[in-house]
Amino acid sequence: MRAGEDDPRRERGARGLGEGRPVGRSPCPGRPRTNLIGMSSSVLTAVAWPYANGPRHIGHVSGFGVPADVFSRYQRMAGKDVLMVSGTDEHGTPILVQADAEGVTARELADRYNRVIVQDLQGLGLSYDLFTRTSTRNHYAVVQELFRTVHRNGYLVPRTTMSAISPSTGRTLPDRYIEGTCPICGFDGARGDQCDNCGNQLDPIDLINPRSRINGETPVFTESEHLFLDLPALAQALGDWLRSRTDWRPNVLRFSLNLLDDLRPRAMTRDIDWGIPVPLDGWRERPDKKLYVWFDAVIGYLSASIEWARRYGDHGRPDTDAWQKWWSPDSAGARAYYFMGKDNITFHSQIWPAELLAYDGRGERGGAPGRLGALNLPTEVVSSEFLTMSGSKFSTSRKTVIYVGDFLREYGPDSLRYFIAVAGPETQDADFTWEEFVRRNNFELANEWGNLVNRSISMAHRNFGQIPSPATLTEIDAELLRASAQAFDTVGDLLARSRFKAACSEAMRIVGLANKYISESEPWKLGDDPERQGTVLHTALQVVDDAKTLLTPFIPHSAQKVFRALGGKGVWAAEPEIREVTDFADDVEGVGVPNVVNYPVLTGDYAAEQATWARRDIETRRPLAKPTPLFTKLDPKLGETGPPWAPVG
Ligand code: MF3
Ligand code: ZN
Repeated sequence: MRAGEDDPRRERGARGLGEGRPVGRSPCPGRPRTNLIGMSSSVLTAVAWPYANGPRHIGHVSGFGVPADVFSRYQRMAGKDVLMVSGTDEHGTPILVQADAEGVTARELADRYNRVIVQDLQGLGLSYDLFTRTSTRNHYAVVQELFRTVHRNGYLVPRTTMSAISPSTGRTLPDRYIEGTCPICGFDGARGDQCDNCGNQLDPIDLINPRSRINGETPVFTESEHLFLDLPALAQALGDWLRSRTDWRPNVLRFSLNLLDDLRPRAMTRDIDWGIPVPLDGWRERPDKKLYVWFDAVIGYLSASIEWARRYGDHGRPDTDAWQKWWSPDSAGARAYYFMGKDNITFHSQIWPAELLAYDGRGERGGAPGRLGALNLPTEVVSSEFLTMSGSKFSTSRKTVIYVGDFLREYGPDSLRYFIAVAGPETQDADFTWEEFVRRNNFELANEWGNLVNRSISMAHRNFGQIPSPATLTEIDAELLRASAQAFDTVGDLLARSRFKAACSEAMRIVGLANKYISESEPWKLGDDPERQGTVLHTALQVVDDAKTLLTPFIPHSAQKVFRALGGKGVWAAEPEIREVTDFADDVEGVGVPNVVNYPVLTGDYAAEQATWARRDIETRRPLAKPTPLFTKLDPKLGETGPPWAPVG
């Protein structure tokens, strides 16, 4: 055992981590881990963790939240065992900088924005199985378990670096407090940890003309000891893994492969007093050394899965091992998809897989997994580009920002979800304009989809009071029904590959075909031929029902309304709920461990929803009520002016 390493079996918090039993190798008895064809149907949706340093704007949620939710909802409907996890990211300088600005402690800041963010994401209908936070004792325990094992396996090596000090205060200046010119691309607003222009990770000392963001002074650099993740010792394993990922979005894969050309050791500790203590003798007690926020944040995917298992487990029964189905290599065919904006790619296609490979002992130094057993690497890093607002970057300081909360209060979730799905930054930067938002809301959601629902149900209600039975189908009825039935394959295939724009457009194409069918069949003129009128309306309603299913992943709230309008009972598409929970008290003890607190989580009873990815034959003679409009048309003036809280220009 290396110096500073504790015996893992004696480590406190074992109870929280599978009670110290070796896990991951022994399938839990009594629960089928695979389906009938022997392949697991587990899909982990790992959604980037928003910093708890402010309310989220629509640029944020277009990168991680909405795409991940569309994907998860589809996978659940297709019968997969989905676990969708995330939480707020609460350590590091992003939190400290804002806490300073608001004159509160880091903890108070994180508590404040954790609640705001939870509400925003719930309002958007993002169906997390667990949305938690990184300041829980469970997270600390899991992070420390990973750190210790990676260290024991030999992939965390000490090195002396130059750390920045503020000459006026003598305090260390964390990376994010330092700004300068990027040595790689020449961008002048690069930060000490990363350049947002070229996406490269940096060290403060790399910056040309470094200056403090607090008072503009030039930092001085002094020697400081840190633990570095030895990426070169993991290069072979990382490369083998990455080169086997052929079906990623080309821009994400290209960017990730390029990172392999310049693998250097990266510091996983920081000179900072806010973060997770470094779990090694001689480090643990030091108030000025903590784990790097990115080292801990990516582990959130795993710790949140474990927390979910402990709280909710299988079908609401806590089961400390239930997370393994998504993480253990023994769970054959388990897949993991990670959703984020492009500035996060490095951490998900390099740092996180490197941490996992090092934990599993798969680098050139060998080693063995820790007590969580071997862990799966990402199947795909699904990254979006950026959403701009009327041509410029979202910026809180310049007030070019549209907060999710404001948006939801005024327009509800589905019109935003729809906009992001069809016009979001899926593979290239995309622009949000109020004009385009109004146009899509009015012409696509209200006129095309809302109107199809409304006119077909109203006519059936008026003429039959129920869903009419069909007589013999003519070719044009059959043709529409065929197209709509086929869409389950085409749209489903696109969704499974995260091609959301194409998927949504294809679903809307069916809506267009149905509108055309109604216009051509003119059921309103068929009053004296009730048999034909009933057939046309039956056909139209079947396709409305199909389209509501196809659109459910994108616009679940309105899909639920259509389900009800067609006489359905109960929950079609489930929504996330906020629950107040108490942190696990018994997890870790020692220095720097968070107090046991109450906090809100998002979770939901998604198993109870009726939504499945298939045509369901509509039940004839179901009574129909007069429908209410599905979408409200917006005043076109809004397109020119924007709302008062986010004016155009
Ligand atoms: N908080 C980071 C950001 O907003 C994202 C962290 S994703 C994580 O850019 F999972 F790695 F935490
Ligand atoms: Zn750069």
